[in-house]
Amino acid sequence: MAVRTVEWLDEPVPAVRLLDQTRLPAEEVHLTAADVDTLVDAISRLAVRGAPALGAVGALGVAVALAQGAREGWDDARLRHEITRLREARPTAVNLAWAVDRVLAFLPDGPEAVLAEARRVFDEDEAANRALSAHGADWLLRRCPDRPLRVLTHCNTGTLATTAWGTALGVIRELHARGRIELVHVDETRPLLQGSRLTAWELRADGIDHVVQVDSAAAGAILRGLVDAVVIGADRIAANGDTANKVGSVGLALACADAGIPFVVAAPWSTVDLATPDGAGITIEERAPDEVVAIGGVPVAPAGSRVFNPAFDVTPARLVDAIVTERGVAEPKLRPDMTAVQQPL
Ligand code: MRU
Repeated sequence: MAVRTVEWLDEPVPAVRLLDQTRLPAEEVHLTAADVDTLVDAISRLAVRGAPALGAVGALGVAVALAQGAREGWDDARLRHEITRLREARPTAVNLAWAVDRVLAFLPDGPEAVLAEARRVFDEDEAANRALSAHGADWLLRRCPDRPLRVLTHCNTGTLATTAWGTALGVIRELHARGRIELVHVDETRPLLQGSRLTAWELRADGIDHVVQVDSAAAGAILRGLVDAVVIGADRIAANGDTANKVGSVGLALACADAGIPFVVAAPWSTVDLATPDGAGITIEERAPDEVVAIGGVPVAPAGSRVFNPAFDVTPARLVDAIVTERGVAEPKLRPDMTAVQQPL
């Protein structure tokens, strides 16, 4: 799809232009962030979201911070403080911190070198997504050769969650391009509805047949034999293949294991965090209670209800059949070791 989720603007001042995802699908509204406060706010309230898109914004955001610092006369300590705020705006998706650190290494070489590296982070994302999508489609078609696939997905992992094409949704796009998709089951993805608001919007634009379902319909659909495979994205993959992704993912993996159908994770290598040995070391973001007890500002629980609102969960490697990255496919159920697919770039 043609939409640009994240763009760099040179003029009038260096800035990042974002498609405000909180307004979709009702309206396509962009916002321009020329300072760190606006960037951190956009990330925190999910105007931009999805691990690879957060990486792109983090990378370009360092260049925004440098330009703002030059305009406002920041010293080095202030600059580093602001960049740390950006880096820590959301804790679970490793892509954000990874991209900020990668670009920050070019700080001694000056603002042009920083921006050039940020652009490389941006440009590499689509290439990675297209490569991992081909690997994922190949793997799924080997496992499920007999019929066009009925695939279930959770959250949004498409163009909106990346710089272009998508990860799990990229695999689905690739299968569709090969004429091998019958139907996509789209989990609505409570509480913020990334599935129904964003994934259904992308699938509709691409003419890929889909149904939107409440999250609690997923396990029943899987056990009734209505789904051939589940494909999801990831926010952080530990060295052993334990995978953090949108809350609700682990329940899908359990249902797949019981039904004997593949549970596939699709993510760029930048989502793999070899420094974290297993899922116990992954910080799970907890978000505001309002997201759960109100919908569109209307209360859906008694006033004062206590809330548990983790944005993510961790699927143990023992439940993951395949992790597809641009470097190839790992099969954690068989070998819980992400370095098994690590190749030189
Ligand atoms: O809270 P979000 O919308 O940022 O969560 C996004 C997800 O969980 C995605 O599945 C993940 O980031 C992969 S996006 C390609």
